[in-house]
Amino acid sequence: MQKAEHRKVTYSQTTITELMIPSYANFGGKIHGGILLSLIDKVAYACASKHAGAYCVTVSIDNVEFLQPVEVGELVSLHASVNYVGNTSLVIGIKVIAENVKVGLVKHTNTSYVTMVAKGEDDRPTQVPPLLLETHEEVRRFVEAMKRKELKRSFGERMDEMKNSLDLDQAIGILKGERCMVNLDGGS
Ligand SMILES: CC(C)(COP(=O)(O)OP(=O)(O)OC[C@H]1O[C@@H](n2cnc3c(N)ncnc32)[C@H](O)[C@@H]1OP(=O)(O)O)[C@@H](O)C(=O)NCCC(=O)NCCS
Repeated sequence: MQKAEHRKVTYSQTTITELMIPSYANFGGKIHGGILLSLIDKVAYACASKHAGAYCVTVSIDNVEFLQPVEVGELVSLHASVNYVGNTSLVIGIKVIAENVKVGLVKHTNTSYVTMVAKGEDDRPTQVPPLLLETHEEVRRFVEAMKRKELKRSFGERMDEMKNSLDLDQAIGILKGERCMVNLDGGS
């Protein structure tokens, strides 16, 4: 089935708010990064599947850099919007905010971009509806997602070239001044 009608960004915008409970914490008392990743994946799925009207799978999560720790007792809100659609893929932008309601402190912990692909009943990628951009912000986010995709592709190509062209002598030369020691007989 072809789903050609444009859908507004607001149609699928989703927010999840969750209380950070003690079982989410690590030995240092801060919230595990994995808990936040799981919430990011969950809100991305909700937003993507609503836009697509289909089951979606996660392909990649970019820019996972936790800028500030999250504490037990804080309320974490994840705001998700469709930033970009390709043919069968979507990029969901997710802003994560942690709030200490007692002292009124609000922290921006990270912004991540999740690429998802919609799947049909046959488990193959299926076309998603195009996006209707209604604000300057939505136009900016769509173009940024296109640029991020291009940059990621060229980064991948350059890493592959570098890996294929690097020989052992060169590698050892590059390691001079690094905090490591090469002892190639060490394993024998
Ligand atoms: C993602 C997946 C559906 C791609 O399948 P595929 O047969 O390679 O499909 P295609 O080559 O037709 O690509 C489909 C779309 O995915 C995009 N895509 C594929 N690999 C990608 C990658 N590494 N990064 C970003 N987008 C990617 C393609 O650009 C294409 O987008 P478009 O239709 O908007 O142009 C497939 O690899 C998959 O099912 N992966 C597992 C996903 C999953 O289970 N996630 C949960 C993790 S446990």
